[in-house]
Amino acid sequence: MTQKPNPLSSIKVNGPIPAHLARSVIEETLRSAILDGRIPCGTALRQQDLADLFGVSRMPVREALRQLEAQALLNVVAHKGAVVAALVQGDAAETYALRILLESEALRLSVPLLDASDLEQAAGYIDALETENDFTEIGRLNRLFHMSLYIKAPNRRLLKLIEDGLNEEERFLRFNLEAMGLGKLSQEDHRALLRAAEDRDVESSVKLLEYHLNRGVEVITRYLNSPAALNRKTL
Ligand code: NI
Repeated sequence: MTQKPNPLSSIKVNGPIPAHLARSVIEETLRSAILDGRIPCGTALRQQDLADLFGVSRMPVREALRQLEAQALLNVVAHKGAVVAALVQGDAAETYALRILLESEALRLSVPLLDASDLEQAAGYIDALETENDFTEIGRLNRLFHMSLYIKAPNRRLLKLIEDGLNEEERFLRFNLEAMGLGKLSQEDHRALLRAAEDRDVESSVKLLEYHLNRGVEVITRYLNSPAALNRKTL
């Protein structure tokens, strides 16, 4: 009989953890294990197992899990406890429809307030994306580029929601970009978007963003319905 490998066995704990650091050590350790796929989507994380693994009480474990839930890396599921979240949660089309609503509103509020250094930073991310081949880095730069255009939107809660969505996408790209056959993300949309922002053309920039995100959902939906994705499909 083969035994299912325990995902927690990939986690190495070096010696006793000082009590005041316990929550942040547990949080950081689990976050990187989730992000690099050592703990796969759908894994249930039991508080007592984690407390035993880290040699701590359940209290810091509970706090760390709460932080990871707030970062949309875990979902709390009835009778299962904390479960590692799927890469794209629910329906990709719905996820993107919401992103378009939130991000176009942030762009509308932010574009008139962007200053030269914001625009320079956005251009820098596009340049970096041009030469980057590492999938993890591509996902990160894409998120930073988008955020750099929304950053002056005065509504902080709106920006937090947007950042959650972008983090989710970053995680999805990290695992699937290669299988999707996308060596790189197309930079044309990004450049056009930046130009419209530089011109303070709010209407065009919103239209370009909608176009960009709609194309994203098309590519992702096609990929998720293809045989290549079947083995990787999220829960
Ligand atoms: Ni993009």
